[in-house]
Amino acid sequence: MTSTSSSSSDLKSKQREFSQSLHGKDSDKKVGVSAFFNKDNKAQEVAINDYLKHWDGKTDKEAEQRRLEDYNQSTHSYYNVVTDFYEYGWGTSFHFSRYYKGEAFAQATARHEHYLAHKIGIKEGWKVLDVGCGVGGPAREIARFTGAHITGLNNNDYQIGKAFHYAKKFHLEDQLNFIKGDFMNIDLPENSFDAVYAIEATVHAPVLEGVYSQIYKVLKPGGVFGVYEWVMTDKYDETNEAHRKIAYEIEIGDGIPKMYDVNVARQALKNVGFELEFEQDLADSDDEIPWYYPLTGEWKYIQSIYDLSTFFRTSYIGRQITTNLVRALEFVGIAAKGSTKVTAALEDAAVGLVEGGRQNLFTPMQLFIVRKPLDAK
Ligand SMILES: C[S@@+](CC[C@H](N)C(=O)[O-])C[C@H]1O[C@@H](n2cnc3c(N)ncnc32)[C@H](O)[C@@H]1O
Repeated sequence: MTSTSSSSSDLKSKQREFSQSLHGKDSDKKVGVSAFFNKDNKAQEVAINDYLKHWDGKTDKEAEQRRLEDYNQSTHSYYNVVTDFYEYGWGTSFHFSRYYKGEAFAQATARHEHYLAHKIGIKEGWKVLDVGCGVGGPAREIARFTGAHITGLNNNDYQIGKAFHYAKKFHLEDQLNFIKGDFMNIDLPENSFDAVYAIEATVHAPVLEGVYSQIYKVLKPGGVFGVYEWVMTDKYDETNEAHRKIAYEIEIGDGIPKMYDVNVARQALKNVGFELEFEQDLADSDDEIPWYYPLTGEWKYIQSIYDLSTFFRTSYIGRQITTNLVRALEFVGIAAKGSTKVTAALEDAAVGLVEGGRQNLFTPMQLFIVRKPLDAK
C-alpha cells in the first residue's frame, strides 16, 4: 500500500468511526427532528467546529487556499451537520429543479432527474455511477426510470447508511449500491461505467479538473457524463464586491471551498479530454416559477396543497422558526454548542442563492453533456 492510499484509508476509517459516534444507533432509519435528537452532542460540537473553522468571513487567497486543501474533511463535516436539515426541508433529493405551473414539488424533482437521465441516454441494464449521491434520492428515481444499475459514490458515511436503508425500504437493492469514497480519487476500475452523472455535487471539488479527470478515468470509451453543475454565470465579476459577497454566502452556507464560473467548468471538462456535446443553463429561462422559489417565502409560487409543508419549512418564515427553535435548544443544552451558527450559515446560503438567482449571477443547473472519445487511451 502506498503512503497516499494508506493515509486515505486512515481518513476513511476515522471518518466512519466518528460518524458512528456522532449519529448514534439506528441513525440510518431516523429522519429530521428525531435524527437531530439522536446525536452525541460532544461529537456534534466537534463536527460543527470542524466545518465552521474555515468560514470566518475571510475571502483572501490564504483563507481560500486552506479551504481548498481541507475540502474532503470539511465537506464531510458539513454534511454530518446539515443532512438532517436537508432531509427535513427538501426530502431525499438534495437539489434544485425547474418548477412548472401546476406541478408539485416532488414531481418537479423527479422530472429534473429524468431529464438528466434522458439527455445522457441511460438505458436498461447499463452500469452507471452517481458521483456525490447524497442519501440516494436521485439514484432511486433514475434506477426506476431507466432500469439501469446505479452505484452511488459519497464521502459521507451517514448519508451512505441512509442511502442503503432507503434502497432496502423501496426494494431496489438489486439495482443500487453505494460506496464510500472521495471523488477526487475514485477507487474503482478504469473504463468500467457506461455512463456517469453528478447532481449539484462536483461543486465541492477544490479543482474541477480533479473530479472530472477521475470521472473520465472510470467511464468506458464512448461513455457519457452528464452533470448539473453549480457555477457563477458570465455576468459574475469576481472583482465586484457585491458579487463576491453573494458567492461567499453560497460557499459558507453550502460547504463549498470555491465557486468557479461557467467558463472554468467548461474548460476543465475539455482539459481532461471530454468532447462537449450539449450545454444549457436551465435557470436561464422564462419559467414563471424560478428555481429558487422554495427559499423565497413567496406564497404565490406554491402549485399544490401538498407542497405547503415543504414550502413552510424551506421559506424565510419557516427557516426563522427553525433557527429560533435550535437557538432555544442550544441554550438549554439539548442541541450541541454551535448549532445556531450552522442554521445562520444555512440562512446566509439561502440569501446568497436567491440573490444570485435573481441577478442571474449563479445557476445550480448548468447542464453539460460530454463524451469520452471512443478512441480514448
Ligand atoms: C448537494 S449534495 C447532492 C446530493 C445528490 N446528488 C442529490 O442530488 O440528492 C452533494 C453531495 O456531494 C457529496 N460530496 C461532497 N464532496 C465529496 C467528495 N469529495 N467525494 C464524494 N462525495 C462528495 C456530499 O456528501 C453530498 O452527498
